[in-house]
Amino acid sequence: MPALQKKNSPPTTKLVPLLHPAGGLIYHARAARLANRRWSDFRAEIGGWLNDWQPDTEGLLLVGPSAGYTLSSAFLNRFHEVVAIDFDPLAKLLFRSRHRECRLTQWIEEDIFPVSRAGIDWKRLKIRLRQFPSHAVLFSNVLGQIAMNTPYEDAVERDLGNLPDLLNGRPWASYHDRLSAPFRPTLPGQTAHQNDIELAGTAYREGGEVISHSTALLGQNLPCETFAWECRPRYWHLIEACSANANGPFTDLSPR
Ligand SMILES: C[S@@+](CC[C@H](N)C(=O)[O-])C[C@H]1O[C@@H](n2cnc3c(N)ncnc32)[C@H](O)[C@@H]1O
Repeated sequence: MPALQKKNSPPTTKLVPLLHPAGGLIYHARAARLANRRWSDFRAEIGGWLNDWQPDTEGLLLVGPSAGYTLSSAFLNRFHEVVAIDFDPLAKLLFRSRHRECRLTQWIEEDIFPVSRAGIDWKRLKIRLRQFPSHAVLFSNVLGQIAMNTPYEDAVERDLGNLPDLLNGRPWASYHDRLSAPFRPTLPGQTAHQNDIELAGTAYREGGEVISHSTALLGQNLPCETFAWECRPRYWHLIEACSANANGPFTDLSPR
């Protein structure tokens, strides 16, 4: 049986985005070495999944793209307007040089998911959703990072479970970490949605220490697919991808 762990980060003060473990210099250096080779299968799989996601919008709100190492230009070029949100100050320049034809009209450099003991504060996301009311939203491998740098993982997990309601009426998609471990996961295939313990039991039958990224509730009522991503040599992330179409009225996005 695998030993499922939460990261249990100490109550950190604000991390400098450039040194943030979820992005910044460390991520860019790793991507420079691995994106075109070791990540190529994962990039192709995410590319295929995004190809099947066909929101009927001209605009895209892209959350956490970094330099778009795992995104294809073909996908981005489908949109007439792309607005990116990422607090990494280096990412915009690198994104532009990687996706030259992408119609990137705005780059918003802010912490879009401030976390406190009370959980995720959605105020900033709601403001951006109101500002771009007709854009589809793609969370680009970012939601599984929120719980990694806070001691309040349980509150983060609960609040991520409420995100689909907050986005109701809007086409959106996310691919995000569910679990990570120093072993290649066995993917569950087409099964009912699994909680972390069930998924870890399926994916890591040989046991070992497995990290939960506190995203189990996010896709519980949505169609999901899973992928394996060797993010760094001999360390794999089990990625879940889920999407929702615009079905129903927009949720009231007044600040809470
Ligand atoms: C794992 S990287 C995403 C990888 C990227 N989608 C790709 O294709 O290479 C996560 C990104 O999210 C950004 N990020 C993480 N937490 C954030 C937050 N709270 N607000 C804004 N950006 C955030 C990081 O700066 C980083 O660029």
